Amino acid sequence: MKPLLLVSGVLALGAAAGAGFVLSSVLQEPSVAQVEAAKVAAVAAVAPVAPPPVAVDPVVTGSISTNSVPVPSGPSAGPVPGHIYRSFNVDGPYIALTFDDGPNAQTTPKLLDLLKERGIKATFFVLGNMAAKHPDVLKRIADEGHEIGNHSWSHPQLTRIKLDAADKQVSDTNEVVFQVTGKRPHFLRPPYGSMKPALRDHLEKEYGLTIVNWSVDPLDWKRRDSQVVYDEIMKQVQPGAIVLAHDIYPSTVDAMARVLDDLIAKGYKFGTIPQLIAMDTPHAPKVALAPAVHPKPTSAKPASKKPADKKPADKTARQSQPSSGKSAQNGNLY
Ligand code: NI
Repeated sequence: MKPLLLVSGVLALGAAAGAGFVLSSVLQEPSVAQVEAAKVAAVAAVAPVAPPPVAVDPVVTGSISTNSVPVPSGPSAGPVPGHIYRSFNVDGPYIALTFDDGPNAQTTPKLLDLLKERGIKATFFVLGNMAAKHPDVLKRIADEGHEIGNHSWSHPQLTRIKLDAADKQVSDTNEVVFQVTGKRPHFLRPPYGSMKPALRDHLEKEYGLTIVNWSVDPLDWKRRDSQVVYDEIMKQVQPGAIVLAHDIYPSTVDAMARVLDDLIAKGYKFGTIPQLIAMDTPHAPKVALAPAVHPKPTSAKPASKKPADKKPADKTARQSQPSSGKSAQNGNLY
């Protein structure tokens, strides 16, 4: 109340006076208030600014360089056409963490905090309808350097609906991500990992989408127990892994602090899907088999699934992904 009275008094005085020198003396008049305000401003300016950045900054920057995969020198490879990624052949302890079915307004920001504190980049396969509900969370995911992938609009099994319905699930999600982040996804994780060659080819051709499944599955949607989530991830993880988890369950997010810290302690480095693809060095049989398996025969010729075709691929799979590696090569099992 006091400052208001003072100001209106000053205004009245100024209006009544008219002469220039009076005005200037009036301007000096409220200096008591100005001094008070200046004091408050000075205190506000000095007190909070100094301490926090000193404490926070070095930790964040330090861990970004420590926990991230190295940036490949020289030209990096893009996705192998027609390939379904389930893990990577990488020359180091590099893994990709992926989080599906969000964003969620409560649990996703908590997970983002955990990742940020540790300088870890992950990939979020979002549902279009959730992204539309929580655009602010989606924006934060993008702003903090994580990769955003497409997980369909409402989680149907894409192989069980018509092509145009599947197309709409994917394209609507692409558009909402584009509206919020200015960028369309390059990667699709089909719900349930379910894909078939014709749809894969369509989505790749139409939207430039590469299909990404996983090699580590803690079944966190089924067992909502952070100890189980922790145990399963730690048991299954290995270099080149793609870890599947869901950022919509409190139990999963609760498990993550310990998962991340223990993976870091074991020397793992974390990258997004495109970062890991850039480091992926497919073994010779994988490359050699791809043209033979993919072009046309996949849909027409069930013969291409014969064990004879798969043998060399299985051998390479065992080197980097014993658990689920058998289905990981060349995308001929859906
Ligand atoms: Ni899902």
